[in-house]
Amino acid sequence: MDQPGYDALAQLYADTFPDAFTSSLERAAVDAFLGSLPGPRIVDVGCGIGHVAAHIAERGGTVVGVEPSPNMLALARAAHPGLDLRAGDAGLAGLELGGFDGALARYSLIHLPPDEVRAVLRDWHARLPDGAVLLVATQSTDDPGVHPFDHAVAPAWRWHPDALAEAVTDAGFAEQWRLISRPDGMAHHRFPELHLAARKQREIL
Ligand SMILES: C[S@@+](CC[C@H](N)C(=O)[O-])C[C@H]1O[C@@H](n2cnc3c(N)ncnc32)[C@H](O)[C@@H]1O
Repeated sequence: MDQPGYDALAQLYADTFPDAFTSSLERAAVDAFLGSLPGPRIVDVGCGIGHVAAHIAERGGTVVGVEPSPNMLALARAAHPGLDLRAGDAGLAGLELGGFDGALARYSLIHLPPDEVRAVLRDWHARLPDGAVLLVATQSTDDPGVHPFDHAVAPAWRWHPDALAEAVTDAGFAEQWRLISRPDGMAHHRFPELHLAARKQREIL
């Protein structure tokens, strides 16, 4: 999937978000995810300028970042030359997902229409190994369902926590936890933000 908005605004994005996290809660959510993985191998889907992938690597993770915007990817590679950063989108074509312990999608699945998100989650569930953990972060809403919103860069949807939980559960994952943080006057947070973690459980025969 092309991302012309992110291509055009890549440098502005990097200038606007110099740090991997805009709050300690975001960092805590990613660190809780890392602490729950059965192993160190993580795919960062829509890794943007790579700063969260770098955070994961600093904590001992073996991370592959996947990013559809060539300009975002170029900034990521320039800033983090030691990371494994690849062109691609949420379809994760060509990636052997059976070799990963976790998948992180921070504010990237927001750019897929809801039915595409559901299909992607089903596909990831089929390809990830038992025990793998998924962490999805989205802008959220108190209104039930999924709602388009005026994202500054590209078409985007906000997910009610129960709607995202239903999507991951329908895909076959078991929800582990969810974190909802509300706007508190800090920059960049217009909406509640949702982090939701889920695990692919072993089939009990
Ligand atoms: C808000 S940025 C977040 C970047 C990074 N995940 C982070 O947490 O800093 C959204 C990213 O999702 C990427 N993206 C957009 N559509 C995508 C898709 N279909 N598949 C994967 N990534 C996508 C964009 O190119 C952009 O880099």
